Amino acid sequence: MKMNKIGNAEIHVDDQTLVCPVYEGTEGERAVDIRKLRKETGLITYDPGFVNTGSCASDITFIDGEKGILRYRGYDVADLAENCEFIEVAYLLINGSLPTVAQKARYSSLLNKHSMIHEDMREFFIHYPDRSHPMAILSAMAVSLSSFYPEMGENHTEDVDMKVTRLISKLRTIAAFSYKKSIGDPAVYPRHGLKYCENFLNMMFSSPVNKNPYNAVMIEALNKLLIIHADHEQNCSASVVRGVGSAGANLYASISAGICALWGPLHGGANQQVIEMLEAIHRDGGDVDKVIEKAKNKRSPFRLMGFGHRVYKSYDPRAKIAKALCEKVIASTEKIDPLLDIAQELEAKALADPYFIERGLYPNVDFYTGLTYREMGIPTDMFTVMFAIGRLPGWIAQWMEMQKDHDSRIARPRQVYTGPNARKVVPIEKRK
Ligand code: ACO
Repeated sequence: MKMNKIGNAEIHVDDQTLVCPVYEGTEGERAVDIRKLRKETGLITYDPGFVNTGSCASDITFIDGEKGILRYRGYDVADLAENCEFIEVAYLLINGSLPTVAQKARYSSLLNKHSMIHEDMREFFIHYPDRSHPMAILSAMAVSLSSFYPEMGENHTEDVDMKVTRLISKLRTIAAFSYKKSIGDPAVYPRHGLKYCENFLNMMFSSPVNKNPYNAVMIEALNKLLIIHADHEQNCSASVVRGVGSAGANLYASISAGICALWGPLHGGANQQVIEMLEAIHRDGGDVDKVIEKAKNKRSPFRLMGFGHRVYKSYDPRAKIAKALCEKVIASTEKIDPLLDIAQELEAKALADPYFIERGLYPNVDFYTGLTYREMGIPTDMFTVMFAIGRLPGWIAQWMEMQKDHDSRIARPRQVYTGPNARKVVPIEKRK
């Protein structure tokens, strides 16, 4: 997390000049250090959504939104998706390097060892109403882990592998149990003989009457889908995880807050919204042009779901991988999915439209992931849960990095107050 000082910038306020150091990261990102701004000048910056604000220095993930680059710890996401399993990428994000054969074997055995959840926690599922959104269950269960396994909050530097694999393994089990609860099926327990992704598919789809209804293409797709979601630097949910953690909250509580942030339709919830949008177009007779016009209409709040990104102003590199995976999974099922045709037509038309070109709006990761999950038999309201399972190693890595960062402080932005000036309370009988 070391930045190099490359010069100074001056901020002139009235007749005062504040000299601010300028730092540079390893990929050339430059930042003006304004930490003394308020103390020296009384001014704060106004930056809604923190669009221009670097909240930390980080060694984990590099994104170049203009060039469409995404790297975890220096490795291109496409390289990792092609050559690694998800748990290797999880290890990389959390530990800083890819595992050796021995490290991977230990990690896998820890994942197996910690895959069950406490039987008392299983009782929780029974009391949720049948149509509960699995993200509500997932976030509640994640924070409940802090009651069942409180040691993570104590000394997080001790046996990190054990503590984080426990979380990574159990969240997957919780996710699968929440699905089984939502369809009224008995829970399927994790199995030691299965690798991480296959274990998840088994817990999701096996039942007492139907064993292993999944195939190798689905296992490969799941590995890759989880990898492309594994981290995305200071996005909304990661910032929430860091923000909650900055107050000293334990890892489970911080992750639970991140899950809630991810649930939002402008963030991880968009993959669900993409499918709902494509289904609505299909029901409506497939008129793609009408939807594009609606998305461009400034009087309508509607946006083309799965399009646009705060950081990427070119094709999201994850969307490229997701699109290829989607086509592969659909080909393997030998089914025809009319939603894929609609998605491809929508993409082609939007990419040729001046509105989307001028604003740099391209398909984001959510545009094709929902279709792929749907083809794999994962229901729509589980899409964001899948995203959360993938993003978990990134959240953990961000949280742990923040704990070690000497510059880290409790997250506490300022505001520009625009409400009423000081006034006195009028007795209730005299109020109008
Ligand atoms: N459809 C239509 N217009 C759009 C879209 C869209 N999907 N996205 C952005 N725009 C327009 C905005 O209206 C704005 O137009 P204007 O300049 O005329 O006012 C311009 O493009 C810039 O958009 P912003 O809202 O400033 O972009 P911001 O960075 O704040 O938002 C966001 C990014 C939230 C992702 C936005 O593009 C969006 O709502 N997309 C749809 C939801 C979605 O797919 N979310 C998933 C994001 S990826 C993820 O979280 C994993």
